[in-house]
Amino acid sequence: MHILHVVGARPNLMKVAPVMGALQRYSEIKQTLVHTGQHYDANMSDVFFQQLGIPAPDANLGVGSGSHAWQTAQIMTRLEPVLLERKPDLVLVYGDVNSTVAAAMVCSKLLIPIGHVEAGLRSFDRTMPEEINRVVTDQIASFLFTPSADGDRNLEHEGIPADRVHRVGNVMIDSLVRLLPIAMEQKLNGLPERYILVTLHRPANVDDDRTLRVILGHLMDLASEVKVVFPVHPRTRQRILDGGIDASRLDLREPMPYIVFLAIQRRATAVVTDSGGIQEETTYLRVPCLTLRNNTERPVTVTQGTNTLVGQDGASLRSQLTRILEGKPKQGAIPPLWDGHAADRIAEILIKL
Ligand code: UD1
Repeated sequence: MHILHVVGARPNLMKVAPVMGALQRYSEIKQTLVHTGQHYDANMSDVFFQQLGIPAPDANLGVGSGSHAWQTAQIMTRLEPVLLERKPDLVLVYGDVNSTVAAAMVCSKLLIPIGHVEAGLRSFDRTMPEEINRVVTDQIASFLFTPSADGDRNLEHEGIPADRVHRVGNVMIDSLVRLLPIAMEQKLNGLPERYILVTLHRPANVDDDRTLRVILGHLMDLASEVKVVFPVHPRTRQRILDGGIDASRLDLREPMPYIVFLAIQRRATAVVTDSGGIQEETTYLRVPCLTLRNNTERPVTVTQGTNTLVGQDGASLRSQLTRILEGKPKQGAIPPLWDGHAADRIAEILIKL
C-alpha cells in the first residue's frame, strides 16, 4: 500500500513525524511525503524536520504565503499533478491548516481516500479559518482519527458514519513524549526561576491593530512583575512592526525550534497563548495555560487539563495569573489515550486495509 502524507505548516510536523515513524515498521507500506511550502522559513519548517527526524519531502510545492483563497488554490493546483503521477492508495492530512483542506479537496475529486489525523475538533466558531478547514476536511475524509471523545461526538452530530471514526488519541503528544527526555537536558541559560511564556498568532488577536495593542499592553503590565518570554510568530512580528506597537518590556525572541520550546514550556510558571497545540502540550506537561480566546476546539484541555480560557479580557488574564503566581494553579489530568502511542494505533488500523 502506498500512503502519501501532505504537510504544510509548522503544527503539521509534530503530527506527521510519529505517524511516519509508526508506518515505517511495516515493510508492505510505501510512504511519500509532500510539503506544500505553506510555511517556508527555516525556523518554521526545516528545523522541525531535523529535530523530529522527518525525512526530506519527496516533493515541495513551494506555495508560500498569500490570501486564503490564493494559498488554498495554489496548493490544490500544484498538488493535483503530483497525486496523478504518484498514484497513492491513501492520502493522510493533518490538523486544520489551509494545506489540510486543500489537499483533502484535491483527493476527493481524484477519488483517492483521505485519512484525517486530528479529526472531529470543533470550536463552533466559523469566523476561524481553521474551523472551516476542519468541517470540510472531515466531511470528505474516509478515515477520521480523533484525539478525544468530544471529536467522536462532533462527527456524529454532523452525520458522519461511526465506522469512519477511530479514536486513537493525540499524535502531537506522541512527539512530545518521545522528545521530552532530550528537552529536559536543555540548559535554559539566562531564564529566571519564574517566567511567563507567551505565543500569539491567531488572526483574531493579531490582525487588528487595536486588539493586538491591548493584548500587548496587558503583557507589558505583567512584565513589570515577572519576566515575559515571547517567541514571535512571523505574522505577529509583522503586525507589531506595522502598527509601531510598544513591546519593549517583553523578551521578544525568534520562533524557537521544537526541543528548546518544549524545554522552555515545561519550566514555565504559566503559558499565555492562542495556539491550539500548546493548549494540549501544557495539559500534558501540567503547566497552567491561559488561552487568549473565547472558545477552544480542544475542550478536554479545559475540562480535564490545565487550560483556562481568558478571552481577550485583561482582567481575567490578570486574576488567573495572580492565582498562579500565588502558587494556586489549576490542577489537571492527562486525557485518556494521550500516551505516546496514538500513531501506533493509526498504523494498526491502516495496515488492515
Ligand atoms: C497557520 C495556520 C494556523 C496555524 C499556524 C501555525 C491556516 C489557515 N493557518 O497560520 O492554523 O496555527 O499556521 O503557525 O492554515 N510567514 C513567514 N514565514 C513562514 C510562514 C509564514 O514569514 O514560514 C508569514 C507570512 O507573512 C504569512 C504569515 O506569516 O503571510 C501567515 O502565514 P500563514 O501560513 O498564512 O498563516 P499562519 O498565521 O502561519
